[in-house]
Amino acid sequence: MDDLYREQIIDRYKNPQMRGRLDPHDYTYEDDNPLCGDRIRIDLRVDDEGRINEAAFSGDGCAISQAAADLLTERVVGMSLEEVKSYTKDELIEMLGIDLGPVRMKCALLSLKVLKAGVYGLDELEEELASL
Ligand code: FES
Repeated sequence: MDDLYREQIIDRYKNPQMRGRLDPHDYTYEDDNPLCGDRIRIDLRVDDEGRINEAAFSGDGCAISQAAADLLTERVVGMSLEEVKSYTKDELIEMLGIDLGPVRMKCALLSLKVLKAGVYGLDELEEELASL
């Protein structure tokens, strides 16, 4: 099973489905992984009912960070902003389906950090990021 997930990571890294930028967008944020300097930006468009109807990511980084960003941006399409706020790192890790050591964990969580920062805005950001 781990092999299947590993293939998914490599495939998403080589053939991302969600790579791009949305201009205009309703929410956007960009940040880096302090361990390596790799950056990810996520753009979101939201419909009148507060559901994400388009999402895209851009940036550069390792296979784990890029595949996680690709899968996560795909996953959030159709979610409400409240659902995104309550999306946990455990759900992301489960979606990736591979064992991650502490360094790779930072790679995997970069896109979630960026996504949440964009959706929360700066007021609630510090509290939320502290729990990642
Ligand atoms: Fe930079 Fe993974 S090595 S995000």
